[in-house]
Amino acid sequence: MYLLELGGEDDAFAAREAASAAADVRRIAPGLAVANAVGPDRVRGLAYTHRASDLLGRTDADLASARALLEAAPIDREGTVAVRATDVHGSSDVRSDRAERELGQVLVDRGFAVDLENPDHVLRAAFSEGRLERDEDGRGDLFPEDQGDASRGEAVSVCALGWLAAESVRDFGTRAPTDKPFFQPGSMDPLLARAVANIAGARPGATVLDPMCGTGGVLIEAGLVGADVVGTDAQAKMTEGAQTNLAHFLGRNEPSPTGVPRGSWHVGRGDATRLPVADDAIDGVVFDAPYGRQSKIDTHRLEDLVPGALSEARRVASRAVVVADRSWASEAREAGWELEAAFERRVHRSLTRYVLVLE
Ligand SMILES: C[S@@+](CC[C@H](N)C(=O)[O-])C[C@H]1O[C@@H](n2cnc3c(N)ncnc32)[C@H](O)[C@@H]1O
Repeated sequence: MYLLELGGEDDAFAAREAASAAADVRRIAPGLAVANAVGPDRVRGLAYTHRASDLLGRTDADLASARALLEAAPIDREGTVAVRATDVHGSSDVRSDRAERELGQVLVDRGFAVDLENPDHVLRAAFSEGRLERDEDGRGDLFPEDQGDASRGEAVSVCALGWLAAESVRDFGTRAPTDKPFFQPGSMDPLLARAVANIAGARPGATVLDPMCGTGGVLIEAGLVGADVVGTDAQAKMTEGAQTNLAHFLGRNEPSPTGVPRGSWHVGRGDATRLPVADDAIDGVVFDAPYGRQSKIDTHRLEDLVPGALSEARRVASRAVVVADRSWASEAREAGWELEAAFERRVHRSLTRYVLVLE
């Protein structure tokens, strides 16, 4: 079993993204989840999971319990070690420097040599206390039976220990919308773009379509995790700009920082309600609907555009992720989709983004 250290402010959303890289993801405490199996390549490309570690065990979020757990745990590793501890969201009373010292001492007592600079193995120790917020649909949580307390939304206190197995590549800052060759207001933040691309199924061998691609923010992130990407936009200015951006980020021969070959890309001018794409030709559709006041909408009112785009997406793919400034859930159902999950992400006081996951 693996320990996942989640990032961002919305654990349910982070766990949903992590499910694109890991099997059977369950949240166990604020900022922490476990999973049965992980793909290390896929973890490197996650936006809202920082690390996956081979779980050694878990106990309560205090140092004495953590020490006892580590003293008793079977360890089948050789070589040098380092302990890295984290107090998730500052929620526990455990000081991470003290935890690193004391847990490091346990490993020394068990015969390991410590190498803080270049260890063969890193032991992650994550301490977290608090309540788990419920999922949007009120299911409580994605918990198995053994997580009784947490599944009822009660307070939990967790220390999880695990050997670091994979870390996500934190290079999103290099792709801030304003630093891209082509920039327009309303471009999607690369973290959210990566997460929605992953949820839509972006990976080597998959084809992801953004029918309203704008500056290409989602396509870039999908291409960097290896998906072949296709984009359309109603405005020529956008398709030309997206081409510039995609050539810049995907038009290189060396593997992407996540370690996979960059996907191929194609962008052309088109109407999201009448796509020049064959039925079922796409694995996942992602789009970021125009925000009423922000984007120029060619030929359609927003009330016609989004439902039209939803049924076209249904025709070409069996999965879609829609980002918008309102929930289009009933329009999605009318277009033949089932709502698999819905998330609300508060961007600032006057802007909430809704993310719908459709199957
Ligand atoms: C919110 S922006 C997308 C931003 C994009 N995700 C990014 O990161 O730059 C919405 C886009 O939808 C495009 N659009 C509007 N109506 C359209 C239509 N009928 N078909 C295709 N694209 C359309 C707009 O030109 C705009 O670029």
